[in-house]
Amino acid sequence: MCGIIAYTGGEDAAPVLFEGLKRLEYRGYDSAGIVTINDSGEFELKKQVGKVQDIHNELNLLDLSGSIGIAHTRWATHGGVTQKNAHPHVSNNSEIAVIHNGIVENYKELKALLVSKGFHFESETDTEVIPNLVEYWMDSKHLNFIDATMKTLQSLEGNFAVVLIDRDTRTIIGAKNGSPLVLGVGERKKNELFLASDIPAFLERTKNVVYLYDGDMVVFETDPSSKKRSYQIFDFRGRTERPIIRPIQSVSWNLSHATKGDFDHFMLKEIAEQVETIQKAAAQDPEHIQNITQSIRNAKGVFLVASGSSYHACLSAGYLFAKLASFHINTVIASEFSQYESFLKPETLVIAVSQSGETIDVLDAVKTAKEKGCQIVSIVNVVGSSLTQISHKTLLLNSGPEISVLSTKTYTAQLAVLSLLAYSLAGRYEEGVQKLKFLWNIVYNLTAATTRNKIKELATRLATHDHIFVLGRGPLYATALEAALKIKEVSYIHAEAFAGGELKHGPIAMVKKGTPCIIFVSRDTVKTILSNAMEVKSRGGYIIGIGPEPIESFDFFIKVPESNSLNPICDIIPIQILAYQLALILGHDPDKPRNLAKSVTVR
Ligand code: G6P
Repeated sequence: MCGIIAYTGGEDAAPVLFEGLKRLEYRGYDSAGIVTINDSGEFELKKQVGKVQDIHNELNLLDLSGSIGIAHTRWATHGGVTQKNAHPHVSNNSEIAVIHNGIVENYKELKALLVSKGFHFESETDTEVIPNLVEYWMDSKHLNFIDATMKTLQSLEGNFAVVLIDRDTRTIIGAKNGSPLVLGVGERKKNELFLASDIPAFLERTKNVVYLYDGDMVVFETDPSSKKRSYQIFDFRGRTERPIIRPIQSVSWNLSHATKGDFDHFMLKEIAEQVETIQKAAAQDPEHIQNITQSIRNAKGVFLVASGSSYHACLSAGYLFAKLASFHINTVIASEFSQYESFLKPETLVIAVSQSGETIDVLDAVKTAKEKGCQIVSIVNVVGSSLTQISHKTLLLNSGPEISVLSTKTYTAQLAVLSLLAYSLAGRYEEGVQKLKFLWNIVYNLTAATTRNKIKELATRLATHDHIFVLGRGPLYATALEAALKIKEVSYIHAEAFAGGELKHGPIAMVKKGTPCIIFVSRDTVKTILSNAMEVKSRGGYIIGIGPEPIESFDFFIKVPESNSLNPICDIIPIQILAYQLALILGHDPDKPRNLAKSVTVR
């Protein structure tokens, strides 16, 4: 969803912002724009619909001058995909420019108020009320930019991350309420400051990060005589007047994590990285795992809550908790969680799983649970994300940044961490650790060029089909759901998953000569799932088997050695590769699937 990058420093702002925009592209967007303040104190603004590079080719974003500016990638929510609706938006008096991620839920009332005061609006966005409200407060109450912004922020309802820039004082203000925003502090001698939706946007220039919390308003000012730039953080809700001190932390990610390296796409790079990331996820502090295991045991009712691929990881874990530890867990789609509110008690434990830690549905679910006094454990990849800030305990995935919109390495990392918890709950923690280590070799072979080439053959065969069916049983039903999602997201071929037993209850009506059907097989489910395979085969279906042994009824076979409870971790990898290959064959960009966003920060 929308991406934010802001810069003040000793260098030209435009190239820094342009690079930042490119690194934010993965979040999903439809238009982009930059505004700088030039040396004569004027705004220089360019914005357009399209990809950052195309916009640059058309408008030359790099010739915007000045060493201070803000930039944005927009994923449309209010108002169509048009140049006018692209950010930045500027106040009527052309003094204040704004970029924004999230939704101003009460924008209609605010807009009506401003219209009654004589303000006019250029766009259909909710965002445009923000700079105009600041102007209104500055003019009508003679407030300075900082106080007027604080007053404006207090009047906004909904989740947002917003950055404002004042032409006159060359001040930048960023504020966060439920949407992501981090502060980057440049090396001392460079004396530069950044704000961004996420760290990769400025990682090339600094690793020093301040994680901002909801309610934080950070102000960048430049001392007019010494030219020294400094920042202060305030609570815009006004609960404390004194500045808030937040630690500067050094991130362990480096630029190679945020660049493609020798790979053509982030998606392929991240699939290949699973050789390491599964092991990194499994390398948890045993004491911390024991501690969380105890919280699970002590709880009266445990919920696993997540969206998208993370939800599929939870579904898979539900089977594992039952099988290994005879422990029942309620797995709920985050956006449906409020339906279960009446079951939430202070003794309830909610385990929220999210790569980004910013998915609004997950944050909403956790807030609901916290209001009921529940304990919250989160499993998250992004350090300092909103979810980590509102959880009582967190387990980190340690996967490094995941840039491709499709979740691959963090999905298997989530499975690894959840598997560790299940083993720990069964009193077999060490066994779980050893079993996860053993996966290294399997994952290495699955991501190697030989397997990739074999799967490319399969992709060529499947690319002309309109429908692909995927079947699994037990935990591999969750894998089937994730496999169908991967294929849909990036190839736009309709793929649908079923629990093997459900085939005869309807879906089999769709099977005709040549219909591709992917079947996940494991030692546990071999008998039943193979009878499903035969049902498809006898109606002319084309069977792709994924499992430990080839079977006669398979038309195409991908070998994944048996790893029992951990099968879901390895079995998904061939399908991640298949989805990637399908995208390439069909001419889609695997890293930027249409309409999708990496982290969904609006409801
Ligand atoms: C978006 C992404 C999915 C992801 C889901 C949940 O829809 O496109 O790939 O699985 O959000 O994201 P989270 O960050 O909460 O795991």
